[in-house]
Amino acid sequence: MQPMLNIAVRAARSAGDLILRSSDNVGRLTIDQKGKNDYASEVDRMAEREIINIIKTAYPDHSILAEESGGHVGNDFVWVIDPLDGTTNFLHGFPQYAVSIALKCKGRLEVGVIYDPLRDELFTAKRGGGAMLNNRRLRVTQPNVLKGALLGTGFPFKTDEHLDAYVGMFKALTTECAGIRRAGSAALDLAYVAAGRLDGYWEIGIMEWDMAAGILIVKEAGGVVTDFSFNDKYMESGNVIVGSPKMHQLMYQLIEPHVTTDLK
Ligand code: IPD
Ligand code: CA
Ligand code: CA
Repeated sequence: MQPMLNIAVRAARSAGDLILRSSDNVGRLTIDQKGKNDYASEVDRMAEREIINIIKTAYPDHSILAEESGGHVGNDFVWVIDPLDGTTNFLHGFPQYAVSIALKCKGRLEVGVIYDPLRDELFTAKRGGGAMLNNRRLRVTQPNVLKGALLGTGFPFKTDEHLDAYVGMFKALTTECAGIRRAGSAALDLAYVAAGRLDGYWEIGIMEWDMAAGILIVKEAGGVVTDFSFNDKYMESGNVIVGSPKMHQLMYQLIEPHVTTDLK
């Protein structure tokens, strides 16, 4: 898998450079609204084209699942691409966004890369090979209690449907932990749990391209990921709870009472 990881890194760095070069120009970009509070700029599309070109040049037979251009069907290898995770941040000059690229084979995550071009931070993982930030090995934190923990989350901003359930979860956790951050990039939230910068993270309704690379990175750093039923159907539901085994369990206990049937 190392050659495929190398290609993912090359594609992520190249897209990251393109995003950085465009960041002074945000006022002049063409922006499309895909849905409520859901935007894509020409930078998202250019970065995605760049990534797909690099992957397709190396692996013309592989399949692609990309946020802006959808699916390109090939063989059992599927590259899952979010060219710019944190578009709203990027468009506001809020410095928290990243490129996320994962490779799956027959449904199993093999490679994950998240690149933060602003900090030149490269988070990588290969299945069974551990997770790295640049050249440093990553490990999730091992707290035994929620007291003192710093958690990450995302707000359900695209629809109001799960707002009450979310607020219930938020209330239960915020009273027990040291702080909750909503930084605006699910990929970096996951990478930060792997790096021990966050003790845990949860979100409702994220997409496969938001989470695929981050999930492999966090698992390879010793983390646990489940959906809201304590199962592994998070790619299907989009609902995730992430942390060290103990932190995950503590978070799950407080989240579970607020999980409505349609979030299971
Ligand atoms: C979004 C970010 C955000 C999360 C949203 C995602 P995008 O991705 O990851 O943190 O809360 O659910 O859609 O649209 O910026 O690629
Ligand atoms: Ca995203
Ligand atoms: Ca995106």
